[in-house]
Amino acid sequence: MVTRRIAEILRQGQPSEPVTIKGWVRTKRSSKGFAFIEVNDGSFLANLQVVLNADLPNYEDLLKQVSTGASVEVSGTLVESPGKGQRIELKATAVTVLGVASESYPLQKKRHSFEFLRTIGHLRSRTNTLGAVFRVRNAIATAVHQFFQERDFLWVHTPIITASDCEGAGELFTITNLNLQDVPLTEDREVDYSQDFFGKPAYLTVSGQLEAEIMAMAFRDVYTFGPTFRAENSNTSRHLAEFWMIEPEMAFCDLDGNMQLAEDFLKYMFKYVLDRCPEDMEFFNQRIDDGVLARADNIINNEFARLTYTEAIVLLEKADKKFEYPVRWGVDLQSEHERYLAEDLFKKPAIVTDYPVEIKAFYMRLNNDEKTVGAMDVLAPNIGEIIGGAQREERLEVLEGRIEAQGMSTEELWWYLDLRRFGTVPHAGFGSGFERLVQLMTGMSNIRDVIPFPRAPLSVEF
Ligand code: 4AD
Ligand code: MG
Repeated sequence: MVTRRIAEILRQGQPSEPVTIKGWVRTKRSSKGFAFIEVNDGSFLANLQVVLNADLPNYEDLLKQVSTGASVEVSGTLVESPGKGQRIELKATAVTVLGVASESYPLQKKRHSFEFLRTIGHLRSRTNTLGAVFRVRNAIATAVHQFFQERDFLWVHTPIITASDCEGAGELFTITNLNLQDVPLTEDREVDYSQDFFGKPAYLTVSGQLEAEIMAMAFRDVYTFGPTFRAENSNTSRHLAEFWMIEPEMAFCDLDGNMQLAEDFLKYMFKYVLDRCPEDMEFFNQRIDDGVLARADNIINNEFARLTYTEAIVLLEKADKKFEYPVRWGVDLQSEHERYLAEDLFKKPAIVTDYPVEIKAFYMRLNNDEKTVGAMDVLAPNIGEIIGGAQREERLEVLEGRIEAQGMSTEELWWYLDLRRFGTVPHAGFGSGFERLVQLMTGMSNIRDVIPFPRAPLSVEF
């Protein structure tokens, strides 16, 4: 018989249907003459309740072998459940234990802390919360493609190995196959990268943007969605060393068009997930953060606030809140400032534009005041910066000046400059941190709990 998924059975299964399921036992309760086991196969938050009657030929063995964590195959008939909490249950006619679980199985029926669950990254996906997180994560990833495909954006695959530091922040992981016990040196006693695999320094990418710009100059609207890497040693609940980023890039687009896309994008993500994963979202609202559904509603139904950095600084200076990091024109906004704006002041997402040129990356378009650039950060309640983007500098001379001013090399970026030599156009794009989006949606407070295998300082197990 075809194995059915538990989600589908719980949603659509009808009494007297014969079914076979496969999954892992969450709990077992036995009474005189019968036992209940709760089985989960990852497809749904709720378990399927299976009734084992003493007339099963291997009943005594099953009582011994079936325990929390064991894997089972069950065939039987669906029946209306007389008990509370479920519409339907499975009356077993044949049960096979595929893999027993020893008593040391760490996920017993009690609440475990997320810190503890991180130490068992190979098992934590079998819990209610992480299960819900990864189903929502999957739904958002699907929504990302649907959103861009509906708008005729081309999905382009930008490289993971690169020779350039897109953000210019020096947070790069170097890739090498030189023998680290015996590194070849030049006459100046510097590492001789000419002997390395690529013949020059190579890194894990911090962003697919520069290559996305190349592709946008051929296909107009493109997006890339892949892993990015940053060696920033910040042990916060919002930073990972390996995270996924969604980066659209649009030719013939200015900052206004870019802001509109970012707003439409976030609204679409929320609508999609509420529609596809209502049970999981309800669970987050009940068990993780009681603001989850209200925030989703707020994001879907309100126009985002829009203000310039200069206006934001004025508002922050007037704030009746004491900030750890003082504000004045010219400083970068800290997460406490971002959250104050979105959470306390506007009470909805806010898009801040036109940041000082000194604190933003070289590729952002210089404004006429020559003090600010066409940057945009989308700030969300609960998270702070969720999206960072900009209109790009499309004027060759201005861009060369910016690259030099930042101490970067115009020679190494020759191909990026070429895009401004051959048919340059105004263009814009942004990067949305995928894990921060999952956090915003689920209310999970630590970013390490929304990616299956978090990479952070001193954390690379599993
Ligand atoms: O603001 P960022 O650094 O922008 C860029 O990388 C641009 N090249 C994007 C573009 O215009 N195509 O990063 C974009 C987003 C941030 O807003 C944040 O959501 C997320 O990526 N992000 C991180 N997420 C998790 N861990 C980190 N260490 C992150 N750094 C940035
Ligand atoms: Mg940023």
